[in-house]
Amino acid sequence: MDTSLTPPPRRPLLAPALAVLALALAVLGWSIWETRYAWQSGYGNGELPSAAADPRLLTAGDMTTFHKGFKPFGQPADNLPWQYEKLFDDGDGLFDTPFKTASGRDPATSKPGDVATTPEGLGPLYNASGCGNCHFRDGAVAAPYQTGQVMNGIFLRMSVADGKGGYMAPPGYHVQLRDKSSAPGVPPEGQGVIDYVEVPGSFPDGERFSLRRPAYRVLDPGYGPLPEETIYEARSAPRLAGMGLLEALGTETLLALAKAQKNHPDGISGRPNWVIDPESGQRVIGKFSLKANEPHLRAQAAGAAYNDMGMTSPLHPQELCLPNQKECAAAPKNGGPGHTDLSEAQIRALTVYLQLLAVPARRDIDDPAVQRGERLFADAGCAACHVPTLTTDDSHPIRRLRRQTIHPYSDLLLHDMGPGLSGRPDGEASAQEWRTPPLWGQGLTQKSNHHTVFLHDQRARNLQEAILWHDGEAAIARSRFMGMKREDRAALLRFLESI
Ligand code: HEC
Ligand code: HEC
Repeated sequence: MDTSLTPPPRRPLLAPALAVLALALAVLGWSIWETRYAWQSGYGNGELPSAAADPRLLTAGDMTTFHKGFKPFGQPADNLPWQYEKLFDDGDGLFDTPFKTASGRDPATSKPGDVATTPEGLGPLYNASGCGNCHFRDGAVAAPYQTGQVMNGIFLRMSVADGKGGYMAPPGYHVQLRDKSSAPGVPPEGQGVIDYVEVPGSFPDGERFSLRRPAYRVLDPGYGPLPEETIYEARSAPRLAGMGLLEALGTETLLALAKAQKNHPDGISGRPNWVIDPESGQRVIGKFSLKANEPHLRAQAAGAAYNDMGMTSPLHPQELCLPNQKECAAAPKNGGPGHTDLSEAQIRALTVYLQLLAVPARRDIDDPAVQRGERLFADAGCAACHVPTLTTDDSHPIRRLRRQTIHPYSDLLLHDMGPGLSGRPDGEASAQEWRTPPLWGQGLTQKSNHHTVFLHDQRARNLQEAILWHDGEAAIARSRFMGMKREDRAALLRFLESI
């Protein structure tokens, strides 16, 4: 028999089967990589709208949003992977939810890991029941406009000398006047009231203006009289667009800005605020809050929940009732060992939400007045503190936030703004020092928040008044603005509205 004619044994299915197996393994591997690792870059699939846009519109690199709706400060970065979209949405939900009073429910029956559950445990003493009550649409709610009205959505902080050269909260009170109570029988700490006095002034060219100077007092103090010498200061909620990019700015970047301002001809000398990281215990640079007292967004979110809303969390597990506030301590809590009002998962969702808030794109860049205003902004010396361009560094856990060229118009440093804007000393920051606020997005304040009030306590009724309050290190820049021709002042304001 001629064996050479016998065909080799045939295994017709082996090759396709191997191919299918290889493909299946590749798909499995890719999806594991995608679910475990790739999404952490913060980039989803497809092209970013920013890639096709005029680069002059990009306020925040890949974190710029072109959303045209009524909520410009509350948009997620475009094209997020679904895992981040989910975290963002969970955080968004928590941010906009009014939290509930503690029901005294047995924590064993509650689901602390369930992010979507409306958190319970508001108060007993607090200022507002939801983040969004103050940060209306991720901007700021307007404080009472009329003199003598009770404050809402803006709060008072209070200090007295401690007799040892430092400052402390007035005895019996929290440093932040908590004006609401969530439990019957727990007296609120009191109601903050603003009284305004109009202070007229005029430009060198004769045009007149008036600034309103605020003074503060507390109605119905709930825990004994407040000392005569109490220093009051009101703080308004900042816009939250672009917070993650500020978190991603390197310490070295901010220190280099401070160094570059040494011997500045205008007398500008910004300095960083150094704070203790509540979790690592290390001394780190402060970036957030109006005097840069918070190092990162996780600390800021947990601190806001605790101080503004009375919500405990893994960062602040003890209920905030002072020793003299007996009714506060006795109010119902959703207590139990290890239980906090906000879970770790909820703090994480809030943090990621803040980190991934995009910044609105610039507008009107071809308007000649806007372009002239931009040059005048630099010529007047505004840009020394309101630094137009910075680059984030390479180490943020969300890669989307790394190495972005951004235009926050801030150096995040503390500047002495003169006695007119004086508040109270806070950590290493003096009473007159404030962090340069980022200006990005501010031209959309009216559209988003239906007002145009600015500065730490909203005393400025428009952008021009905000500039006219500048003093101290910014006195020379302010006088340059005052000395401009009327149409140049208008051009500078047009520019501010375009960013
Ligand atoms: C009662 C009003 C109020 C509530 C409620 C509130 N905030 Fe704030 N928020 C403020 C004020 C005022 C500041 C400035 C605080 C300071 O200077 O210490 C601020 C600062 C911040 C900042 C820092 C912004 C910056 O530019 O540095 C972030 C982030 C923030 N809040 C997030 C939150 C989150 C998240 C919640 C809810 C858990 C919340 N806030 C609840 C009023 C509020
Ligand atoms: C020395 C640093 C410095 C200089 C120079 C400076 N600013 Fe400011 N600017 C600040 C600080 C700090 C604040 C916050 C003060 C406060 O809230 O009390 C501020 C606040 C503002 C605000 C209000 C922002 C907000 O969200 O409330 C505007 C607008 C503004 N500056 C524009 C300008 C313009 C225009 C110039 C130039 C004419 C200028 N600034 C020069 C440091 C500076």
